[in-house]
Amino acid sequence: MNSVSNWVLFICLSVFVECVLVQCRVTYDRKAIVINGQRRILISGSIHYPRSTPEMWEDLINKAKEGGVDVIETYVFWNVHEPSPGNYNFEGKYDIVRFIKTIQKAGLYAHLRIGPYVCAEWNFGGFPVWLKYVPGISFRTDNEPFKMAMKGFTEKIVSLMKSKNLFESQGGPIILSQIENEYGSQAKALGAPGHHYMTWAANMAVGLDTGVPWVMCKEDDAPDPVINTCNGFYCDSFSPNKPYKPIIWTEAWSGWFTEFGGPIHQRPVQDLAFAVARFIQKGGSFVNYYMYHGGTNFGRSAGGPFIATSYDYDAPLDEYGLIRQPKYGHLKELHRSIKLCEQALVSADPTVTSLGSLQQAHVYSAESGGCAAFLANYDTKSAVRVLFNNMHYNLPPWSISILPDCRNVVFNTAKVGVQTSQMEMLPSNAEMFSWETFNEDLSSSEDSSSFSAHGLLEQINVTRDTSDYLWYKTSVDIGSSESFLHGGELPTLIVQSTGHALHVFVNGQLSGSAFGTRQNRRFAFKGKVNLRAGSNKIALLSVAVGLPNVGGHYEQWNTGVLGPVALHGLDQGKWDLSWAKWTYQVGLKGEAMNLNSPNGISAVDWMQGSLIAQKQQPLTWHKAYFNAPDGDEPLALDMSGMGKGQVWVNGQSLGRYWTAYATGNCNGCSYSGTFRPPKCQLGCGQPTQKWYHLPRSWLKPTQNLLVLFEELGGDPTRITLVKRSMTSVCADVAEYHPNIKNWQIESYGRTEEFHKPKVHLRCGPGQSISSIKFASFGTPLGTCGTFQQGTCHAPSSYTTLERKCIGRQRCTVTISNSNFGQDPCPNVLKRLSVEAICAPLT
Ligand code: GAL
Repeated sequence: MNSVSNWVLFICLSVFVECVLVQCRVTYDRKAIVINGQRRILISGSIHYPRSTPEMWEDLINKAKEGGVDVIETYVFWNVHEPSPGNYNFEGKYDIVRFIKTIQKAGLYAHLRIGPYVCAEWNFGGFPVWLKYVPGISFRTDNEPFKMAMKGFTEKIVSLMKSKNLFESQGGPIILSQIENEYGSQAKALGAPGHHYMTWAANMAVGLDTGVPWVMCKEDDAPDPVINTCNGFYCDSFSPNKPYKPIIWTEAWSGWFTEFGGPIHQRPVQDLAFAVARFIQKGGSFVNYYMYHGGTNFGRSAGGPFIATSYDYDAPLDEYGLIRQPKYGHLKELHRSIKLCEQALVSADPTVTSLGSLQQAHVYSAESGGCAAFLANYDTKSAVRVLFNNMHYNLPPWSISILPDCRNVVFNTAKVGVQTSQMEMLPSNAEMFSWETFNEDLSSSEDSSSFSAHGLLEQINVTRDTSDYLWYKTSVDIGSSESFLHGGELPTLIVQSTGHALHVFVNGQLSGSAFGTRQNRRFAFKGKVNLRAGSNKIALLSVAVGLPNVGGHYEQWNTGVLGPVALHGLDQGKWDLSWAKWTYQVGLKGEAMNLNSPNGISAVDWMQGSLIAQKQQPLTWHKAYFNAPDGDEPLALDMSGMGKGQVWVNGQSLGRYWTAYATGNCNGCSYSGTFRPPKCQLGCGQPTQKWYHLPRSWLKPTQNLLVLFEELGGDPTRITLVKRSMTSVCADVAEYHPNIKNWQIESYGRTEEFHKPKVHLRCGPGQSISSIKFASFGTPLGTCGTFQQGTCHAPSSYTTLERKCIGRQRCTVTISNSNFGQDPCPNVLKRLSVEAICAPLT
């Protein structure tokens, strides 16, 4: 045997021996998940592998690790792995084994949420659409065909993971698995069959003998040994169904998803940190951020209807995989503080004492001598000064201070000491060239793939979701004596649709469009139509915008034009076309010819670009070429000059685009008080999504092919390629209260100077601080981007910052009078606010 195989044998044997000796299974008790005999407080983050590219995975996972995350959670997306029954795909961004191995390589654990129902704002909740057409099937209930299929896929995934030794019990990273997803309320609604199915699912999973625990989220009845867990914005009032199960939070929502036509939802990090600290102080031992990196719904993977292509989620890592500050940094500090408490947390039970009407202390005092305390102020308005262990502590509103030794505060959830980064989409040097168009031809679509039927058919039954598009075409004969042809009022066409979008063409001309919303999928098109004597063609293009992913028996929800469809205002009155002969065509001609891919584009004669700008035609394919821009910042296409459609680069789909304008209430928000998504909205009156992530790895140096299909009309020459760049960084940090006790409190065993507050500024990779846009040590006002000097301002503020920071990628400035010459206003509590400009290193 050569030395490499000796080595491999040695490693395998050591894992084996270790597993036999220390019972290398993951277990749990009432306090925590137990790994290799040790209770652990675990911080976890959701990163869904198909929402980024394999080239991004390592960086995302390493950034998560750097942010203090121990576990990466992902769902398993059945529909991408089994596109047709028995045909599996684990390639490219669906290479889940590679993803789990990347987690292992980083030294992190994995939580595999197999589902296989996942919800997740993912098309059809993760179920393959063919599943709906299995004879006799009924989803997520005590139904044999469904259970057989679910068991088949769950076994497939578990055996795949086992075959690669990926469970912790085999020396791999997977410490936890989930079966089903938030089934509790459904089970209740269904009664006995729901309960039978849930119990069956739990037993089926446990029977797969993975050597690691199974969880069911939002499932109060989860049978032993399955752990029931909590999902939500807060989970501090949750307890598992048995006293011997640990308290696990599988989805701590870090933000919220976006829907086309809606605003962006943000969750202030002070509130998220407060929620997590509340959970930990109550004895919670596992928290998973949903999402830690949200990413992108590439292709037609977005759920629906109307889930946007961006799944940014206001997560600590933004859609592009860049660090979002201050969210990332503040949570990192939180994780560090929680880890300092780990021993006390896993060894002791909390003693809770009142520190005031809305204030509490949770103290973990371990027999071994360790002690950790959490001081909470639930008051949404007022800061308070509390007395704890004979010391005074200041608690801002809606905040928790963490004291890993029951004396010194190392972290307060509401005091954000880390920097804020301003990200902008800057123009790139890439020009689009050789624009050409091809019009989707309406007239000749009655080819071999079309068929006719009397009456209106449900869309997904016809398309099986192979395309978003389904044509419904009919013709109407209008007599020459009709009054509207002789000066009377034009007839009105009314089309009732069950979802999701509709474009109405009369004799080849777009008459108008209508759209549903996520809350209200049903809608009506109503418009005057210009008919002529003789035969008229009515063509309805019904467009799906993501299949539903949530709701009781959502798989039975209808899509498409189910009618009635009627012409009103003819001499005969109303003419109901619902039962007329309709001709159906699945998908677009361009789709059938693969116009979106480099291999398919030569199938048609494209029209030169000069005519494009004047003619903003609906149903048009556009193509152009571009060279990869320099640099390594993440890229996006600015599609705000377009209407609605889909876009591809080099044959890869960036997803659906839609310049739908956001309605909502964007009147600002405070971190304090119970968070709900409507609370902190952004972007009202703006397009919900303007930028579409184009992964760098999809590009070649030159001649990249951009193709888009535009439904409504728009000016493609306005499409630009932009780079996501950090343009400035801000910090805003207060000096500590000049009270010697507070110095002791905050110093946490270090010298006073060591723990004086500091401003840390850090530009992106390849950048340095080129200038100081704002600096004031004193009483500055405003927030990042709008800082202003207050009544007190140290004149040396700028020079101090310039001296320490210009030309550097990162710098640190301690907040002390000596750094600014002298105290600019004695006896006033001061702060340092800075905005520094980041520029590429030249
Ligand atoms: C949860 C669900 C997740 C996701 C989330 C909202 O209820 O389990 O899959 O849909 O809501 O983003």
